Amino acid sequence: MGVGGNWAKQVGRIFTSSLSDFNPFRGDEPYLSIDIGSSTIKLLEVSGRAGQLRVMNAAMLPTPPSAIQNNMVYETSAVADATRALAESRGIKARKVVTAVPGPAVIIKRVTLPAQSARELENTILFEAGNFIPEDLENVNLDYQITDYLDDGKRMEVLLVAAKKDIVASYTEAVRAAGMTPMVVDVDYFALENMFETNYQAPPDRAIALVNIGARYSSINILRNGRSTFTGDVPVGGRDISDGLMRDLGIGSEDAETLKSGGSLPSIPADQAAPVIDAAAAALIDEIHHALSFFWTAATDETIDHIYLSGGVARMPGLAQQLSERVGAPAEIANPFAHLTVDRAVDTPQFREQAADFAVAMGLATRRPDDK
Ligand SMILES: Nc1ncnc2c1ncn2[C@@H]1O[C@H](COP(=O)(O)OP(=O)(O)OP(=O)(O)O)[C@@H](O)[C@H]1O
Ligand SMILES: [Mg+2]
Repeated sequence: MGVGGNWAKQVGRIFTSSLSDFNPFRGDEPYLSIDIGSSTIKLLEVSGRAGQLRVMNAAMLPTPPSAIQNNMVYETSAVADATRALAESRGIKARKVVTAVPGPAVIIKRVTLPAQSARELENTILFEAGNFIPEDLENVNLDYQITDYLDDGKRMEVLLVAAKKDIVASYTEAVRAAGMTPMVVDVDYFALENMFETNYQAPPDRAIALVNIGARYSSINILRNGRSTFTGDVPVGGRDISDGLMRDLGIGSEDAETLKSGGSLPSIPADQAAPVIDAAAAALIDEIHHALSFFWTAATDETIDHIYLSGGVARMPGLAQQLSERVGAPAEIANPFAHLTVDRAVDTPQFREQAADFAVAMGLATRRPDDK
């Protein structure tokens, strides 16, 4: 007996603020999902509950340079000002926020324990977490979730999640400084999984890789039978592609952005740029392929059946195709809004083009402080 994908919605509850939030009419109250990346801040205003979410606003803006470093918010006021400006630009009134810490900032452990009651488990975790988590427990927020029962219920598989308190605080402080209230802090891996569950059906006996390629790192969540069996990240992203183009073509970062997204530069003939772009993309694909093989194929002899790509880099022309050929499985760009109602004013061609950038933010929109 497993708990299905439900655990993903619970992980991160320890990071939830302890604010009492009881309000019987709250179901329709709009919440903000804010995904603070190193390259862009993505914001969604979403009302309703999981299964009937309605997107009222979607906005994104560049993150102030060097505001995010070592997986935490270094420049609180710069991020807060940008976030506030983003909300104000859309006349957004909602103040309650669900945000995420980056996967690389989080330690995730899967442990198998003898079956025990909830209270016993809490004690076991308190006593034993130190053996699993290579950090002083004083300094971390810790959460756990039973993910499966094994051996006819004699043992259980427990997922432990720990995040350094100062990293979590750097995100919640930025949200507070923007005049908003952090209600839930999630982890991007779990948000991706909730995005997938909201919009797609996991076929039985299939392994599906969710791959979110951002500017700094790529998050991977591998689902088997609809349940997460692996989460991890690779420290490569769009910035590495830009660095390669800037180095090999002697161009600046704006020109690199133009080339990455399929544009051309008057100063560089297309036949000179193309092989350099291909090589930079191939290097990224290699890293992701390697990670997928290492994380998955090394543990089982099964193959990955399908890849859903998201994050800004997913939109790089030809990238999904290249990854598909390399891994030997179909790869498609995820549509995080396939099963959501999107207000007409939001549903612009630009929003549709950038939809995959909002994958993490959309997954965050499924979270509420009282998740069960
Ligand atoms: N059309 C496009 N083609 C290629 N790359 C793109 C395109 N649009 C955006 N990118 C790249 O995507 C990256 C930004 O994606 P995203 O917003 O997902 O990153 P982020 O969340 O800020 O980064 P991280 O989570 O790694 O800190 C940048 O490197 C940007 O150059
Ligand atoms: Mg990101």
